[in-house]
Amino acid sequence: MDKGTYMAVSPAAVIPGALPDFRIYVRTAQGTYSLWALEGNKVTTAQLARLSEGGHREIYVDLEEQFKYEQYLEDHLGHILENKAASDDQKAQIFSKVSTNVVKGAFEASLGLGTMDNAALDRTRKLIENALAFITESKSLQALTKLIGHDYQTYEHATKVLWLTVAFLRGREEILEQIVPGYESRDENEKKAILQQCAVGALLHDIGKVFVAHEILEKSGPLTEVEWEIMKRHPLNGLAMLIDTQVPVYVRKAVLHHHEDFRGGGYPMGFEGEQITPLGRVLRIIDVFDAMTSRRPYKDPMPPMKAARIMIGAPAGPAQGGTIPADERDQGMQKCFDEALLKKFIVFLGDVKLGG
Ligand SMILES: [Fe+2]
Repeated sequence: MDKGTYMAVSPAAVIPGALPDFRIYVRTAQGTYSLWALEGNKVTTAQLARLSEGGHREIYVDLEEQFKYEQYLEDHLGHILENKAASDDQKAQIFSKVSTNVVKGAFEASLGLGTMDNAALDRTRKLIENALAFITESKSLQALTKLIGHDYQTYEHATKVLWLTVAFLRGREEILEQIVPGYESRDENEKKAILQQCAVGALLHDIGKVFVAHEILEKSGPLTEVEWEIMKRHPLNGLAMLIDTQVPVYVRKAVLHHHEDFRGGGYPMGFEGEQITPLGRVLRIIDVFDAMTSRRPYKDPMPPMKAARIMIGAPAGPAQGGTIPADERDQGMQKCFDEALLKKFIVFLGDVKLGG
């Protein structure tokens, strides 16, 4: 069969004892593909061990079965992320792939409905439930940080905002207490549920963009006044979409407030300071940080610490000694953020060793 019809996937995705719904192939020394496991067959641990002994770093799936493979990843994500035989890098890649698909699904399912599709919301919750333990494990952070600097696409962006939000909020009880007063006195399960809700907000913060035309979202040049007005409605649309769902009020408000500036001048409400809900202030920081550190068609990714310096309004220039005045635009960025929260976020970036 034509080589081009197969896609390489990680053996880490195959859970011993689970029944994949697709055929698995291995690549021979001659460059051909031979059938390794039939669909509906349980792959055993011994088989997987023989595979790695044979030096096979990758296995292959027929491109025509890509959909089934992706569904399998999503259904088994919890187990895959617990698989001790798989590396954190492999797991981070699988998590990112599944998460991107789930957000894409949520956008597509809600498109035209005018509201958040319930099944899509359940899928989002399930993803977060399955991935939360992995994202909050400190050793996975290094693997996830490799996502920084990747391309900026709405769905990938949502995934990066999700993991940054969860990794940042995890264990920062004083911020979670601000987000949900009384947090600190809750039991462990309730605390976990609150973190999961924040994660839902992070993943869906831009869901209101389903109402914004592709031409506007993907326009490389500056937006016209009318286009900009349409764009600025997305937080309000996001709120409207979540109104009939179980998503708690502090998360809905965060979706509405994620473009409000701490010292005023943001959109859509023009709120400032404490009027902006704490989770909204967190998302404001992380949303901008990811946009700045992502690759765009017109710019290279910015190193994380450089982005952090600009966000906090520190003068740029050699050794940051302040001899060169900062770009006027960058100076203006300071007003966007709750400085106390931003400082905590920068400490977090240092903790996870995001150099640059
Ligand atoms: Fe947004």
